Amino acid sequence: MEEKMESIRKTLKKYSQEHLLNGYSHLSEAKQKELLNQIENTDFELINNLYNKSKKEVDVRETNITPIEYLDKDKLNGYYRSFQETGERAIRNRELAAVTMAGGQGTRLGHKGPKGTFDIGLDSHKSLFELLSDNLKEQGKKYGVVIPWFIMTSKENNEATIEFFAKNKYFGYEKNKNIFFFEQGELPMIDTEGKILIGEDGLIKEAADGHGGIYEALVKNGMTKKMRELGVQWLFIGGVDNCLVKMVDPILMGIAIQKHVSAAGKSVVKANPQEKVGVFCRKNGRPSVVEYTEISEEMAQATDERGELIYGESHILCNLFNIDAVERMGSKPLPYHTAFKKATYIDKNGNTVVPDGPNAYKFEAFLFDAFGELDDMAILRVKREEEFAPVKNASGVDSPETARELYKKFYKV
Ligand code: UD1
Repeated sequence: MEEKMESIRKTLKKYSQEHLLNGYSHLSEAKQKELLNQIENTDFELINNLYNKSKKEVDVRETNITPIEYLDKDKLNGYYRSFQETGERAIRNRELAAVTMAGGQGTRLGHKGPKGTFDIGLDSHKSLFELLSDNLKEQGKKYGVVIPWFIMTSKENNEATIEFFAKNKYFGYEKNKNIFFFEQGELPMIDTEGKILIGEDGLIKEAADGHGGIYEALVKNGMTKKMRELGVQWLFIGGVDNCLVKMVDPILMGIAIQKHVSAAGKSVVKANPQEKVGVFCRKNGRPSVVEYTEISEEMAQATDERGELIYGESHILCNLFNIDAVERMGSKPLPYHTAFKKATYIDKNGNTVVPDGPNAYKFEAFLFDAFGELDDMAILRVKREEEFAPVKNASGVDSPETARELYKKFYKV
């Protein structure tokens, strides 16, 4: 033990993080063990690099961004049937798994608890999870299969999510047979001096590492292995907050299979240049997404000769991947994006500090930063009113009210 402590102290000194042990002697034995475990599992070199990066402006000049070609689902003409047949065959052959990213909390919505448990106010009062499961079951029935469902949670909401599903009898699914839960990774939060924060529980304050952590989490938690046992070849990965998400789409699958690409993503036409969505593009020739926080005003406004936005294929977090590609992406580190957030912490005198504004950096990887690793990606433009009704904000755009209206209109309920 003394030896272990010695080595930990040495590491902390090397990275100027000695304060992490300030409250150690006041912790219970179990918590002490947990803290040491956290420290041993922390990649201090990575945290150091991320801190140094947080002080620099991102230089996008070296990235050559160009538009990406796409297919319009409405204009496939003679190819429609052929894509459909190919896709349907693969679905019947049990080659598809659905993956829902549900690591987020409904903070922006003012909802306490996992976002998937949110009730958007339909007469049925169904939660987002139930609305998603309804569609998945209905589609499975149509093709005579049960589409296995994999749900990514975060440390923060894993227990509450599984409890919610258990209470609802997994909406007809069977745990560990055709519905699986796995946790995404976490990274420590740091202050503006690069010091790792200690939370109110006396442990390192960690936050979910962004949905880009999904590839690694799928592999590390044995999910891709499980999928292979089930014969799965394709993973549809979508967000939990789109109540019109269509996780089973034979056309999307047919296109990916026939075009021999390892991924296919759905887009909708960007509503206006200011809409808060990322758009598909190519970065240095590779498929990618330029996020709404990173696109220049000039690019966002640019139109072609028909008056359509050049960067107008909105990324709606509805993407299909080949399992080989997911495993490959899961073994490569992704860049992290920095967010400045409000975080309660314990200061060096042992006092709890509740800040008024943002005080800490949180690091997140984005799922689409891995697209550059793909051989290529097909983009399919679909209709917004059929496939995209996100619930993000408590009121106004992308709120329960707008999502509810779109849902009612589409399902005629
Ligand atoms: C996101 C996309 C944006 C896209 C838009 C469409 C990013 C960075 N941007 O924006 O390109 O156009 O959705 O609606 O994602 N999640 C996790 N774990 C995490 C973080 C998020 O599982 O650590 C899940 C959330 O539960 C949610 C989804 O990922 O299902 C989207 O996350 P959110 O943070 O709401 O992204 P947006 O900023 O809305």
